[in-house]
Amino acid sequence: MTFPDGVTTRPLTIPRTMDAADAGEFAESTRVRNEIYREITGSDHDALSPDELLPHYQPSPEEIRHSWIVLDDDRIIGRIGVDVPFEEGSRSAFWLIELLSAHHGRGIGSAAYALVEQTARDQGRTVLQSWAQHPDAPGRRLSAPTGFGSIPEDHAARFYLRHGYTLEQIERESALDLQASVDDVARLLHEAEAAATGYRVVQWTAPTPPERVDGYAWMKSRMSTDTPAGALEFDEEVWDAARVARHDRKTLDGGRTMLVTAAQHIASGDLVAFNELTIGSDRTAVSHQEDTLVLAEHRGHRLGLLVKCAGLRTWRAEVAPLSPRMITYNAEENRPMLDINEAIGFAPLAYNGAWKKVLS
Ligand SMILES: CC(C)(COP(=O)(O)OP(=O)(O)OC[C@H]1O[C@@H](n2cnc3c(N)ncnc32)[C@H](O)[C@@H]1OP(=O)(O)O)[C@@H](O)C(=O)NCCC(=O)NCCS
Repeated sequence: MTFPDGVTTRPLTIPRTMDAADAGEFAESTRVRNEIYREITGSDHDALSPDELLPHYQPSPEEIRHSWIVLDDDRIIGRIGVDVPFEEGSRSAFWLIELLSAHHGRGIGSAAYALVEQTARDQGRTVLQSWAQHPDAPGRRLSAPTGFGSIPEDHAARFYLRHGYTLEQIERESALDLQASVDDVARLLHEAEAAATGYRVVQWTAPTPPERVDGYAWMKSRMSTDTPAGALEFDEEVWDAARVARHDRKTLDGGRTMLVTAAQHIASGDLVAFNELTIGSDRTAVSHQEDTLVLAEHRGHRLGLLVKCAGLRTWRAEVAPLSPRMITYNAEENRPMLDINEAIGFAPLAYNGAWKKVLS
């Protein structure tokens, strides 16, 4: 598979910092990335500044990130990425192809995909997984095998299908109006505190305080094993203090703030549930809710509601009072988590498909 005339690809130059002499290409590729997300979603929710994105591309012992830019003559029109995790025994590779819409349907995506698959094979990876947003549209739909959710059979869906992928899971993107929800959050926090006897809330902003590192590391590792994944394949992640420090650096080096709200089991002192909220250096922009997890053996005490509401209260009161909205992503079959989010006031914005192909 070859690219159309005038279209080329080359590895993305990763500068050490955005002040470096060679940072221009990374800045332009980030601008194009944000433009592509704006075209798909009609909003800037997924926009990141080059400073915020760059820490995620620095060399890491956890994975290798292969990244290319796609050029039409000398203009960047898209990006290609293949992430190869280094967890022991991993069979996986995760990939993306992002092209400006003016260049869809020229065979560029298919040529880029050949590079993706070749890279995965070269790295000995056979389970390829990828996500895309599928904005609602009339016409034929595809249902997830989980039994929860469907997406339109749109351009991106047809692209995956043609390249041998199956839809495995639907992910819901939801938004919460941070101002309108203040009273509901206060009421639900009160309810959760009443139910969660034997637990107390502890909070910190990144970097993780030394006394919280072990507990946080254990909970982060459970995120890779204890969340609904349908037939997607995720490696069990090993988290130690060094990995927590690298995770913190990605947030801090990008100028972002992360508030972690955890529930501590008072009798044992263990951290057993947590929630992460983040925002970039512009605290009037949208916020994101990232990981939330209650360890399996502590479910049933309203700890999910507790850490989410305690986090949101602090967020609004102390961290980002002017941020208008909180965005979050959940598996469409994750009813316990969606019940909590819906009670708080999160409403669906869009749906993503999770796609998988196993190479022979
Ligand atoms: C999904 C995506 C990567 C596909 O890339 P693309 O370049 O449009 O895909 P191709 O051109 O290779 O194939 C798309 C269509 O063009 C047709 N096509 C392929 N080669 C062609 C050529 N040389 N000339 C004209 N049409 C061609 C294909 O048959 C296909 O038709 P269909 O949609 O009716 O099935 C691209 O649309 C995109 O970047 N979308 C936004 C981001 C996204 O959702 N990415 C998903 C992966 S992370």
